[in-house]
Amino acid sequence: MRKLTAVICLLSLSIATLFSAGSTENSHDGNGGLIMFRYAENQAYDYPTTQAAFQFARMVEERTDGRIKIKVYYGAQLGDEKLVIEQMQFGAIDFARVSLSPLSEFNPSLNILQLPYLYRNGEHMWKVLDGPIGDEFLASMAAYDLVGLSWFDAGARSFYTTGKSIESLSDMKRLKIRVQEAQQMIDMVTALGATPSPMSFGDVYSGLQTGSIDGAENNWPSYDSTRHYEVAKYFLQDEHTRVPEMQIASAMTWSKLSPSDQAIIKQAAQESAEIERALWAEKEKASEEKVKKSGVVVTYLSQEEKQKFQDAMEPLYKKYGEGNQAIITRIQETK
Ligand code: GCU
Repeated sequence: MRKLTAVICLLSLSIATLFSAGSTENSHDGNGGLIMFRYAENQAYDYPTTQAAFQFARMVEERTDGRIKIKVYYGAQLGDEKLVIEQMQFGAIDFARVSLSPLSEFNPSLNILQLPYLYRNGEHMWKVLDGPIGDEFLASMAAYDLVGLSWFDAGARSFYTTGKSIESLSDMKRLKIRVQEAQQMIDMVTALGATPSPMSFGDVYSGLQTGSIDGAENNWPSYDSTRHYEVAKYFLQDEHTRVPEMQIASAMTWSKLSPSDQAIIKQAAQESAEIERALWAEKEKASEEKVKKSGVVVTYLSQEEKQKFQDAMEPLYKKYGEGNQAIITRIQETK
């Protein structure tokens, strides 16, 4: 697998060198030459993150008088998130929007920001990410050859299953649940008593359909956009975690840009994040309504069961909180 990844990376690098001026001298020749960058996005064309990426590209192109063009490859055309991040580390892909889960496999400090039940609600999460804590985590990307540009919303994640609804913590025991390819997600589902099955986003639909997994977990817009609701129609609205997303740049790409172009891109990333958040709020509501109308069965946990889910997550706070208590407390105390 590693070999295959390396071959794909090398191939992508040479393709990038041929076609993407983001990796050629032409991109930084100082003579007003056209710069072409590649932006990776794994969601569909009409998804809020993809639409915001188009806006990001538009703003950068307009504000550089057409000098910098960014082509958005949506629908995982450039590979799944893990592969995209790897390729960005050596400059074969210039920009991306990724979920924090795969990113935390590269920058483990990000595990803190996706701990289950960490935030009281979405508003609390945004207080944290829009403030100094969010800035510190964006800056922490530099140690991994990446540049953290801005934060995107991805709502709250809940479980959904084929066959039968989940009503209690003990119902989790019999289930094989798809998780993102990240250790914390594996640990989370294990802590709840279920069997984790890590796989890439694009493989989940067939996993549900063929019965190789009993369920998965995600937010309303992803549940809708991937059509998982057609094959897994029992949705437990437990909102066990909020996994924010980051717009990132390759540090190799970044280092070749002039400070003024960097400033333009950073600003466009912030503005596109605001656009994404507005689109997200609309899409979250619309998707929830749509799937409910389609016959999805939504269940909720009793207060007592909810407490059991929360208590079961304790081992994650031990493992990922070790040595990080100060930052967890800062997050919890953010008002
Ligand atoms: C969300 C997120 C994706 C991620 C997916 C997943 O949909 O936006 O970036 O790949 O979750 O569960 O893998």
